[in-house]
Amino acid sequence: MEAATVPTRLSRVNGQIGELIIAGFPLEEIASHSTFEETLYLLWHDSLPTAEQLEHLKKMLVAQRPLPAATLDILKEAALHKVGAMDALRMAASTLTLKLPQDSREEDLRPGAIVLVACLPTIVATYWRLLHNQAPIEPNSDLDHTANYLYMLFGEVPSPENVRALETYFNTVSDHGLNASTLTARVITSTQSDVISAVVGAIGALKGPLHGGAPGLALDMVLEIGDPSQAESYLRNKLESGGRLMGFGHRVYKVRDPRASMLSKAAENMCRAKGDMKLYNLARQVEEVAVKLLGEYKPGRKLETNVEYYTALILHELGLSKDFFTPTFAVGRVSGWTAHCFEQQSRHRLIRPLSPYVGATDRHWVPLEKR
Ligand code: ACO
Repeated sequence: MEAATVPTRLSRVNGQIGELIIAGFPLEEIASHSTFEETLYLLWHDSLPTAEQLEHLKKMLVAQRPLPAATLDILKEAALHKVGAMDALRMAASTLTLKLPQDSREEDLRPGAIVLVACLPTIVATYWRLLHNQAPIEPNSDLDHTANYLYMLFGEVPSPENVRALETYFNTVSDHGLNASTLTARVITSTQSDVISAVVGAIGALKGPLHGGAPGLALDMVLEIGDPSQAESYLRNKLESGGRLMGFGHRVYKVRDPRASMLSKAAENMCRAKGDMKLYNLARQVEEVAVKLLGEYKPGRKLETNVEYYTALILHELGLSKDFFTPTFAVGRVSGWTAHCFEQQSRHRLIRPLSPYVGATDRHWVPLEKR
């Protein structure tokens, strides 16, 4: 049985000093340099790929991007019923077993992991198009993973700045310790189940509002404020009435979330390239006032900017609506989930936490007619 702690070489979070290490590298080095595929390789193999290894990984992913016909049918049906994007993703992801040869569905997790990483963007982009009454776009094998995702969503080859912004986002969310969805994936793998089951379970955990399922609230707040001159009165009112400022505070980080810093830079570069800094500048000014007021109203609580704040800005500026923020998170986090599945499998240990019994004792059976 697995001990109470689950050791990992994949990432280390130090909330006191605001440090996130991804497979030995500071997030700051990975976030702005690495491509999606390089980070994936690093998490899977514990080293950066050579040019040849990277090419090989890219080829395997490109080959697996198209969806089985049954997956497409399910997405069409889901769109007809206006199923939520995370539910549609979960339903479609479970059909990916259809892509695996019969003899590689269980012990060897690698083929399933490749299929999942390759297909999650196709599923999400296809569902986005279907919900918008647009024909799905076939994957473009000339484009790398991140650029292809944007291409399948919006039908245009994206600008390098937009690709870099999304790639930075994917890197920042690729792995983050033993969060709820990652733990779910590990528990499922620890029973010697398959990797598709593990990731489908992880998607279910990510959907909940306490994990990944309440995105965009920080952006709503910034948009409601609308103008920097309104920030102080709006935020004061919110705090006076006992409300929380969205995008601030974190259970683990007691200083500025390092992911917020990376995402803020990526958002700035993207907005500058677009020639429209209005929303970015507003967000920066609101952030400054919010941190100042949180210090005033909640002294000693150490409430700083968290990852949600600039995530929402980046995904919004890329053209996504709020309901697709969490599915896009899943497209990034699947690297970490699958890497944790490999790591867990190599431990050969069942995760089975102890559960102290706190229920009644000394009860005796009462027949139905006497209850
Ligand atoms: N705005 C105002 N006050 C806050 C905020 C905030 N954003 N966050 C915490 N506080 C206050 C609480 O009211 C509480 O004050 P009190 O002791 O006077 O009652 C104190 O700080 C501690 O609050 P907790 O909820 O115990 O802190 P915790 O560390 O458990 O909360 C959480 C973390 C849930 C993220 C919280 O900071 C919050 O609600 N933030 C706003 C929502 C948000 O941004 N969510 C996304 C988080 S990012 C992520 O999870 C990936």
